[in-house]
Amino acid sequence: MARILLTGGAGFIGSHTAVALIERGHDVVLFDNFENAERDVPARLARITGIVCPVIEADVRDEAAMAAAFALQPIDAVIHFAALKAVGESEREPLRYYDSNIIGTIRLLAAMQRAGVGRIVFSSSATVYGEPETCPIPETAKLQVSSIYGRTKLAVESLITDLERTKTLSAVAILRYFNPIGAHPSGLIGENPRGEPSNLMPYICQVARGIRPHLNVFGRDYPTPDGTGIRDFIHVMDLAEAHAAAVEHCLAQPGAFTLNLGTGQGVSVLDLVAAFERVNEVPIKLNVVARRPGDVAICYADPRLAKSMLGWQASRGVEEMCRDSWRWQTLYSQ
Ligand code: NAD
Ligand code: UD1
Repeated sequence: MARILLTGGAGFIGSHTAVALIERGHDVVLFDNFENAERDVPARLARITGIVCPVIEADVRDEAAMAAAFALQPIDAVIHFAALKAVGESEREPLRYYDSNIIGTIRLLAAMQRAGVGRIVFSSSATVYGEPETCPIPETAKLQVSSIYGRTKLAVESLITDLERTKTLSAVAILRYFNPIGAHPSGLIGENPRGEPSNLMPYICQVARGIRPHLNVFGRDYPTPDGTGIRDFIHVMDLAEAHAAAVEHCLAQPGAFTLNLGTGQGVSVLDLVAAFERVNEVPIKLNVVARRPGDVAICYADPRLAKSMLGWQASRGVEEMCRDSWRWQTLYSQ
């Protein structure tokens, strides 16, 4: 069993990954500056798992804090979630994004090098594929980013691949997430965006709660069966379990690999809304508006490489994703 440091470990995907790692017997250290996480997440994790994880409240760009984190206890591997993630905001605040996502990663990697920690799992995104030429998208598809957020992800992919090639790092897993939604079935942790959500599921949940009057459907004129965008929604607990499998692969053998994390199923915006209404028995008022700039029509993964390398595949369906998202919204999120 290993000790794994999770940067951004109090965030949406990090907190669920902490649960999956603890369930598999690993020790978890949470490192987060809480700029996009609630302070009671570690306590909620303790309620779910029965384990109190060490928490380091600091910024990955803070070299002294990073060094102290690695000096405090031996770390076997890092999962690097900490980043800013809003595409629109990245276009308005480019320096903030380059600083947090690239400088932050460089500082982390330097601290890992000094501490002799050579294994890293990195949160990348399907956004690196841009408008895909074919769907399902294999990992070998052409990379074409159109946003600053996407460019920070691609830059870090290159950076850590170079460090593995030059043996500064021993094992590197680059995980390209498709559209993570859902929440832990306890309803104790989930996604809680600050301000107006930009992603679909958090917006649907806020309409269901009456916080927003309706869901703006961004375009009904896409070349898809119902005219709305098609995505590969994946339950965050499936994603979390993939991280556990990926880090265990890094612990077992050196080398670098890049994997899509998706279900391989394309689901339209209207399909997701209909599933949410059906399983939760809540109506969602819709308002069709123009396409959102930068959106692609269809994007879903070819997930076969993750299955063959890690023995992992997503097992939770869209209805479970909708049920768990709504349970989290109604029970515990503010
Ligand atoms: P999140 O915002 O919930 O989690 C990120 C966490 O990192 C937060 O707890 C935040 O407080 C922390 N953080 C941010 N900057 C930090 C810094 N400089 N130092 C220390 N902590 C910092 O986001 P998430 O949805 O859990 O995403 C995790 C990762 O996955 C990110 O790298 C994101 O870009 C990537 N990703 C997310 C999605 C998605 O749909 N959620 C899709 C693809 C990729
Ligand atoms: C977006 C980002 C992507 C990022 C991902 C996860 C853009 C262009 N892309 O992906 O880089 O990796 O989030 O953070 O921002 N939709 C609506 N109404 C809404 C919200 C969304 O109709 O209020 C539609 C969108 O047009 C899209 C689908 O729902 O067709 C999914 O949108 P979203 O959840 O924002 O994810 P992506 O656009 O796939």
